[in-house]
Parts: sequence; structure tokens; C-alpha cells
Amino acid sequence: MVSARGLAPALGRQHAPFNMTVELRAPATEADWTAYHTIRRRVLFELRGNEAAYDANHPDEHLPGHYPFVLWDAGVAVGVIRIDVENAVAIFRRVAIREDLQRRGYGRHLLQAAERFAAEYGCIRAVSHVDRGAVGFYERCGFRRDGPHAAGAAVAMSKQLH
Ligand SMILES: CC(C)(COP(=O)(O)OP(=O)(O)OC[C@H]1O[C@@H](n2cnc3c(N)ncnc32)[C@H](O)[C@@H]1OP(=O)(O)O)[C@@H](O)C(=O)NCCC(=O)NCCS
Repeated sequence: MVSARGLAPALGRQHAPFNMTVELRAPATEADWTAYHTIRRRVLFELRGNEAAYDANHPDEHLPGHYPFVLWDAGVAVGVIRIDVENAVAIFRRVAIREDLQRRGYGRHLLQAAERFAAEYGCIRAVSHVDRGAVGFYERCGFRRDGPHAAGAAVAMSKQLH
């Protein structure tokens, strides 16, 4: 499996305000997993009034081809993503940046690091089912809408990786 540990230098090069301490890493310790679930539970469930629905023990986190990651900056967990790989397509799931650290560029870093992981893995396309409120963010990161969608539904978006 391609590791995402080597991504920090690329992140540092591409974005001057960030230094080499920014790193996308798979959770390896109990503390890493706690950081992963804490951000997901808070940003994607509790802040949306749905905390009770969060299941930290969901089997999807550990299925083959599913890669959970935490974005760290100088030892602080700032964001999360899970990348599910299916037939050379990387599905970006549950993207979240800590609520007090949003709009500082971390989300863009997270997607760029995820895209690099997916490309090194051999994926040719990244796709995501995007919440309406985050469509502008994905567009700023080079994703495009895949087509019309039903009212209220998530928006299907994608980006070529090669
Ligand atoms: C959406 C989210 C991941 C973006 O991360 P972020 O760190 O705040 O975004 P960044 O600071 O890297 O922003 C990158 C660019 O997108 C823009 N942007 C960020 N959030 C945006 C939004 N919700 N709508 C429109 N544009 C947005 C920024 O202004 C910036 O634009 P620029 O190219 O002019 O600099 C983060 O706000 C978040 O966790 N939101 C709550 C959870 C969520 O909606 N997740 C997505 C589920 S599909």
C-alpha cells in the first residue's frame, strides 16, 4: 500500500503559508483513532444536530480498500478524510476540518494530499458526494459537478487525477 507519510514535503512546497509540519497520516495508535473520530463526530454529526447517529465502531472504517486519514499540523489533528478505493476510483468520504480551523487552507491541503495518495495508488479519478454547502469548496479545489441532482440530495462531483 502506498503510504501518505511522504506527502508533507509536497504540501510544504505548494503552499507557502504552511510549513513542513503538515502531514496526512493513517491513524496508527489509539490516540490517532480518537482524534479521527472526535473530528468526524463533532463536525459532521454533532454540529449538524445528529450526534447520536455517529458510530465510531462502524465496520466501514476497517474494510479492505478503505483508508482513513488524519491531517496533522505540528502534532495537532486538524482534519479528516476517508478514501475508499474502488476500481481505480478514489471516493473521498467524510471530509472535515475542525470547526475552529476552517477557512485557513487546511481543507485544500487535505484534498491535495488525498489526491496524491489516490494517484500514487493508481486511481485515475476522485469522486465525492458533496454536501450542498461544500460544493464551492470542492469547485475551488478543481472538482466539477457530474450532472444534475435531485433537490436536497448530495451533489456528485469528480476530478481526473491523471
Ligand atoms: C468544507 C471544508 C472541508 C473546507 O475546509 P476549509 O479548510 O474550511 O477550506 P479551505 O480554507 O482550504 O478553503 C479552500 C477554498 O475553498 C473556499 N471555501 C471553503 N469552504 C467553502 C464553502 N463551504 N463554500 C464555498 N467555498 C468554500 C475557501 O474560501 C477557499 O477559497 P480560495 O480558493 O479563494 O482560497 C470545511 O469547511 C468543513 O469541514 N466543513 C464542514 C464539513 C463539511 O461540509 N464537509 C464536506 C462534506 S462533503
